[in-house]
Amino acid sequence: MNLIESLEWRYASKRMNGERVPEEKVHNILEAIRLAPSSMGLQPYTILVIEDEALKKQIRPLAYNQPQIEESSHLLVFAAWDNVTPQHIEEYINNTAEVRNVAVETLNDFKNSLLNMAENRTQEENFNWAARQAYIAFGTALVAAAAERVDATPMEGFSPEKLDELLGLNEKGLKSVTLLPLGYRDAENDWLAKLPKVRRVKEKLFITEVVPA
Ligand SMILES: Cc1cc2nc3c(=O)[nH]c(=O)nc-3n(C[C@H](O)[C@H](O)[C@H](O)COP(=O)(O)O)c2cc1C
Repeated sequence: MNLIESLEWRYASKRMNGERVPEEKVHNILEAIRLAPSSMGLQPYTILVIEDEALKKQIRPLAYNQPQIEESSHLLVFAAWDNVTPQHIEEYINNTAEVRNVAVETLNDFKNSLLNMAENRTQEENFNWAARQAYIAFGTALVAAAAERVDATPMEGFSPEKLDELLGLNEKGLKSVTLLPLGYRDAENDWLAKLPKVRRVKEKLFITEVVPA
């Protein structure tokens, strides 16, 4: 199956059947998230992988009672850093030096530019920037799930404040931004399963004759 066929196959499932997604497929989706690009390479987010049925049951009412939360096999919570701190930057620089086998001092200019960037923004600006990066990983996960023929429902329909409280994310310096239940569609009970996709026609979505104003 090529990529376009995978994207045509996927849809935002409203009902799932509770079937378990094999570990290898989950691993591949998580690996795609890990490989997703981010601005400056900082990956300012953490993804929680929830399989526990009791916990999913507690989360469902915080997400407008959407059944996919409980009917999923794995529930991913994309949480962005609530700030970008010197400790985050230090860790990233040390990791880069180790992976690339270079002395940490050779990365000083890069490190200082990261520190300046983070310091010149408010905490809220840093969080909003981190959340935008988390969305790139989230989109990558959606595509990876489709390639694995695993259904996934992208979700913003939940209360981040209540979920953060339930999962103790504030103490971890995180704020939830999106949810991604992974599982298998319940085509019989899902009103959306057989409806065609609605997308803007390419003539409206793209401008191909681009000229300066
Ligand atoms: C960021 C984002 C948030 C979304 N939130 C929800 C949600 O909370 N619940 C839901 O059922 N679908 C949600 N959707 C699914 C969209 O409605 C769906 O992707 C869109 O209508 C296109 O349809 P398709 O994904 O089935 O092709 C969300 C999609 C995105 C990208």
